[in-house]
Amino acid sequence: MYNVPIIYTFVFLLHLPLSRCADFDSLSWNTFSSNGLGLPSFIQTMTVNDVTLFYYDSNMRSTPPYPEWVKNTAAEPHWEEAIADIYVDRVILSVALQTAILEFNRTGTFSEKNVYQTYGHCDLYPDGTIKASLTHAFNGNDFISLDIDNKRIIASVPQALKYKRIREDDIIYHESLVSFYKKYCFDRLRVFLKHAPQLSIKNAPEVRVFQRQRAGSNILICHVTGFYPKAVQVKWFGADFQLLDDEINDVLPNGDSTFQTRRSLIIPEKGTEDQLYTCVVYHSSLREGNITVTWDKEEIPFKLPVWILLGCMFMLTVVGLVTRYFYKTNATREQDDY
Ligand SMILES: *[C@@H]1O[C@H](CO)[C@@H](O)[C@H](O)[C@H]1NC(C)=O
Ligand SMILES: *[C@@H]1O[C@H](CO)[C@@H](O)[C@H](O)[C@H]1NC(C)=O
Repeated sequence: MYNVPIIYTFVFLLHLPLSRCADFDSLSWNTFSSNGLGLPSFIQTMTVNDVTLFYYDSNMRSTPPYPEWVKNTAAEPHWEEAIADIYVDRVILSVALQTAILEFNRTGTFSEKNVYQTYGHCDLYPDGTIKASLTHAFNGNDFISLDIDNKRIIASVPQALKYKRIREDDIIYHESLVSFYKKYCFDRLRVFLKHAPQLSIKNAPEVRVFQRQRAGSNILICHVTGFYPKAVQVKWFGADFQLLDDEINDVLPNGDSTFQTRRSLIIPEKGTEDQLYTCVVYHSSLREGNITVTWDKEEIPFKLPVWILLGCMFMLTVVGLVTRYFYKTNATREQDDY
């Protein structure tokens, strides 16, 4: 569990992109370049709809393995380009991180910790709308972003002006980046959606209901886990209750491409003996349309791990990456095959 302090160190330096909480298709890249954190100097993931298609870090001996599903399909050239771009992005991020460190005068101290992050994505909505963006952040704050329509780099802070010029002066790379986010990214997303088998797998949720005391209140929690895709609806039925509003829509990744969420409600101390409280979960994997669990007072409560309380977006961007990194490191120690 030695990855926990790293996660905490990380969160202070982290820029948190919005996670995909609505029902649209999204292809995204998360890239990290850091120093002083004991992490690989470069980490990149490519994700479609919250499913990681590849993970790469600079401690790995080779690029991600070539999956069966891309062979001899329209996905093959897209995959090859995505892998080739890893090397380009390594150089790009290394220059960006060094430039930011210098411009912010964060030099000298050996123990200095810095994180440079990029988040790029393109989204396809059911009504045909398309959206794309690319942002860079340094130590958790916006650094630059790509203005796709005007083909410009926008510097978010004065310290980014130098790096903006470096990027815009590289005309060939800049043009190709703009056209990627204008069009090519969406082609790639459509092709991956069509061919990647892991994107059409659905996992049904497991549902359990238990009781907890919190701040003098009786709280019923409906805990829903192990589902994919992410879109889910959880509802409580029964009279005399009040939902805990702050917990709605908090869908967190489990780190294995499935998700979890919960919905809590406050129930009165007295008079609950005859009252039935029922949690109903709607998910696209369920042929019956829902899972219905009625609270059984006998069930032994269990404690939720503390990390469940951390935010949806933080978990999405960091825990997936970091646990994956440690998992990969351990896995490669034991066996060379992936
Ligand atoms: C960095 O140092 C230079 C020279 O000492 C100074 O002009 C500049 O304002 C500093 N920048 C920041 C962001 O502190
Ligand atoms: C849950 O599904 C069952 C079986 O399809 C259906 O009869 C029931 O009305 C559904 N419950 C709710 C609350 O939607």
